[in-house]
Amino acid sequence: KHYSAAVIPGDGIGPEVMEVGLSLLQSIADIHGGISFQTESFPWNCQYYREHGRMMPEDGLQRLRPFDVILLGAIGAPGVPDHISVWELILPIRRSFQQYVNLRPIKLLRGLESPLRYKQHDDLDFVVVRENTEGEYSNMGGRLHVGTPYELAVQNNVFTRYGIERIVRFSFELAKATGKTRLTAATKSNGINHSMPFWDEIVKEISSDYPDIETQLTHIDALSAFFVSRPESFDVVVASNLFGDILTDLGAAVVGGLGLAPSGNINPEKQYPSMFEPIHGSAPDIAGKGIANPIATLWSISMMLDHLGERELGKLVLDSIEDVLIAGEVRTPDIGGKATTRELGDAIREQLYRR
Ligand code: NAI
Ligand code: MG
Repeated sequence: KHYSAAVIPGDGIGPEVMEVGLSLLQSIADIHGGISFQTESFPWNCQYYREHGRMMPEDGLQRLRPFDVILLGAIGAPGVPDHISVWELILPIRRSFQQYVNLRPIKLLRGLESPLRYKQHDDLDFVVVRENTEGEYSNMGGRLHVGTPYELAVQNNVFTRYGIERIVRFSFELAKATGKTRLTAATKSNGINHSMPFWDEIVKEISSDYPDIETQLTHIDALSAFFVSRPESFDVVVASNLFGDILTDLGAAVVGGLGLAPSGNINPEKQYPSMFEPIHGSAPDIAGKGIANPIATLWSISMMLDHLGERELGKLVLDSIEDVLIAGEVRTPDIGGKATTRELGDAIREQLYRR
């Protein structure tokens, strides 16, 4: 089978981890004669913005549209405001390709220890489903009286019945398909008194179609604490755009850090390409040093393979990552070693051939 992937390496450590990701794809094609990947790289990043005054060309989305999937490194560089780099590249892709599911596994890989040392690895395995097209990241609002003492800013939250229903239903279906029994929905309906009660009502409505799944609505503040105090008690967590964003960085920290955490921006109907990316950013503090952890990117590629229906290959990648972590010899500094991005990437690729 032949798959096409648009690749956006981006800024900072993005190109460093993506280089390793592309070598991995090549190795997979080597190992599995029946599969090939045609990749095309797009140089859309903050450098491009400085040269062209925009993050991608006007027909950027049209050029991405024909690909089966999109792989993104990370975007963002000092000197270009983050709201521009994110709003002009990542968010248009997520929205126009209806990637309304942002799937973020929180799972402690074998071979690693959680900073919460009393937790066993079997305990820590759940998934956060983040709503990815609306909610708090609305682009609606404005600023008035700029530069005066009366300056103010308003940002509206946008929640639609259609948007909530599809993300909540996806989450229940995911729980059902993976044999999970608990669904936790993040809320804040005590403080946010219009949109969050609406969210809660829809969660309750849909839950009645899934009597075998125990449904819980938990306020985001308490839920954040539970991510630390009892992360083993979750199966599927569904959250709005902002709440899901915050929860998943927290979840990543609980299972070893941002260098490990993968994500998929998924269009479940497969009408449009889905996009896979590490959840971390461009990490300007370590960019150029060659020490970024590539695992988040390689695991995102594993999720990409699952999405393409190549589940055995997806599992091969994740198993190989775990083998190398268990062996413990090759690790980047963020997980307690001295290896470079390439060295860890190579160790994982060699393990693919051994398996
Ligand atoms: P960040 O995720 O880039 O970095 C946070 C911390 O985690 C830093 O100390 C960094 O060194 C560390 N870290 C991140 N990835 C790592 C890896 N693979 N290996 C080892 N350590 C790693 O978040 P930050 O600092 O808030 O944002 C930096 C830039 O990235 C900003 O411009 C921001 O807007 C952008 N960003 C882009 C995202 C994307 O492209 N999807 C997501 C998040 C932030
Ligand atoms: Mg984030």
